[in-house]
Amino acid sequence: MKSPSIALPSELIRLSPGRISNRTIILVALGIYALVSWMILNGADNPPIRFRFDATRLVEASLVLKLHVGGALAAFGIGTALMMGVKGRRLHKRLGYTWVVAMAVTAISSFFLTGLNGNQFSWIHGLSAWALIGLPMGIAAARRKDIARHRKHMTGMFTGGMLVAGLFTFLPGRMMWSIFFAA
Ligand code: HEM
Repeated sequence: MKSPSIALPSELIRLSPGRISNRTIILVALGIYALVSWMILNGADNPPIRFRFDATRLVEASLVLKLHVGGALAAFGIGTALMMGVKGRRLHKRLGYTWVVAMAVTAISSFFLTGLNGNQFSWIHGLSAWALIGLPMGIAAARRKDIARHRKHMTGMFTGGMLVAGLFTFLPGRMMWSIFFAA
């Protein structure tokens, strides 16, 4: 029997004609990221920026934030491997469930994090809510053997949720940015 193949990123992008492609979402997010970063730095009179590595803020952060970053980094690594098309159905399943747990930890922990919008939830919490709805839908589709829908849910969450939310954690002034840059 022919084992089910796993699509390459380029095939995933072609899967849903008429829909906004993952590539478009990433390009738009990069554009918004560049614009907002420019506005933040411009508002601070364009201070000189130097590269450094100082994880003090993360080391001293709360447990929930460490859990969030740990889950996010695991979800990023495993998600990248899955998107590249790991070989073998069993490995795909194991990595897939681990990715789901890592994403759920990232999304649930984020509801205990605020700051961007004072003490209120910000638009990024919308991505967390979307992930918590999309994860069981993606699993249900896989169990029904509806592979096209499964791919759509999971790749959408990886690009639209994981990559976009991760990118915006690197806005000037936010914690991830301050680990790598000083102004
Ligand atoms: C590589 C990926 C990610 C990293 C490194 C990361 C890191 C962080 C950090 C350090 C914070 C708190 C400090 C700050 O706001 O600067 C934070 C907040 C947050 N993260 Fe993440 N995160 C990632 C992915 C995600 C994902 C995938 C989601 C949702 C699906 C998410 C949702 C949130 C939310 C909602 C907040 C609170 C934002 C606010 O202050 O309103 N993050 N993240």
